[in-house]
Amino acid sequence: MLLSLKLEHFRNISAMELQPDSSINMIIGENGSGKTSILEAIYMLGLGRSFRTRSLKHLVSYQQPQLQLIARCDDNTPVGLQFHLSNGLQIRLNHSPLKRLSDLASQLPIQYIPANCHQFFELGPKYRRRLIDWGVFHVEPEYNYHWQSYKKALSQRNAALKTRAKKEVIVLWDSYLDRHGSALTNYRTLYLERLRREFEILFGQLCPAFSNAKITARFNAGWPKNESLRDVLVTNLDKDHQYGYTRYGAHACDWTLKINEADPAEILSRGQQKLFFMAISLAQLKIIREHNTHAGILLIDDISSELDQNHQLNLLDHIQAAGIQSFITSTNSTLHDWMHGKENCNLFHVEQGQLTR
Ligand SMILES: Nc1ncnc2c1ncn2[C@@H]1O[C@H](COP(=O)(O)OP(=O)(O)OP(=O)(O)O)[C@@H](O)[C@H]1O
Ligand SMILES: [Mg+2]
Repeated sequence: MLLSLKLEHFRNISAMELQPDSSINMIIGENGSGKTSILEAIYMLGLGRSFRTRSLKHLVSYQQPQLQLIARCDDNTPVGLQFHLSNGLQIRLNHSPLKRLSDLASQLPIQYIPANCHQFFELGPKYRRRLIDWGVFHVEPEYNYHWQSYKKALSQRNAALKTRAKKEVIVLWDSYLDRHGSALTNYRTLYLERLRREFEILFGQLCPAFSNAKITARFNAGWPKNESLRDVLVTNLDKDHQYGYTRYGAHACDWTLKINEADPAEILSRGQQKLFFMAISLAQLKIIREHNTHAGILLIDDISSELDQNHQLNLLDHIQAAGIQSFITSTNSTLHDWMHGKENCNLFHVEQGQLTR
């Protein structure tokens, strides 16, 4: 959770200080006022990167040499981030230079829901893999070790394949991929079943039209079922050699959730697809809150797009009841009425990069 947040020279925000509440923080303003920029700053603090650009120079306000973000987390831990156009990125966690980005991710677990999240269904397996791996990372302490070891072995094997190294050299990496890949698959399988259970309940609540729907999970480990990864790698070595990269393994994993055995993209409306994605994010936060002392933060950009008033209010009721710290943007000022008298909620108006009353 964030107790305070300070932004300096971040996009169109020259200086801003926020004292967020523990539940819903609604950020309302016109187009171009700086709403998404506030979410981007929080995301940046938790992940050390932006969801809009790979090049951090775009985040620094025009005519300025650097940006700065300072936050205090629930246990009073300070996080400071500075990006200077010439000196690059510096992050400090609890007054010391950050060693690993994963330390930041553990301190500030963030689920970001973009305005176009209904397009999730059109994205490739890489995005779906990232999504559940975020959850597995937060609930399974050994996940990061296995993932880092797997990635290292995979890049070595791929480098060997690319340079057409001898097969005896390439197979040296197979046992590492097998060991770490199998561990990752175990974690992912267990996690996906938990996600399915939580999702079934949440999706029914957020989208009452599907309150009795049966949700099933499909999981593809990244290699053929009932075979060991090592055997698959050996059998496919000639093909991998031809292609120049490792085709099978935990890096090729994919998953999906079906609604009454149907593909969500084929039966859901756009608004329902958005609620589907939101239910996945809320289910993930619910699961990680059972493990991680640093309760997760939810960022929802443009809650009003695709969703009618009733579904928006139902969603807000749900987030508030669950006590999830969330930062939600909207151009729609009628959400004021919902905020009235709600506990632990705060309303921020943004105009040209500044907070107004
Ligand atoms: N580096 C920068 N320096 C100054 N201003 C910038 C910079 N990068 C972007 N901007 C401007 O910052 C403003 C805020 O953008 P932001 O995306 O946060 O708006 P928003 O409130 O989310 O708008 P919308 O409702 O359209 O989504 C925009 O006017 C944009 O052009
Ligand atoms: Mg925006």
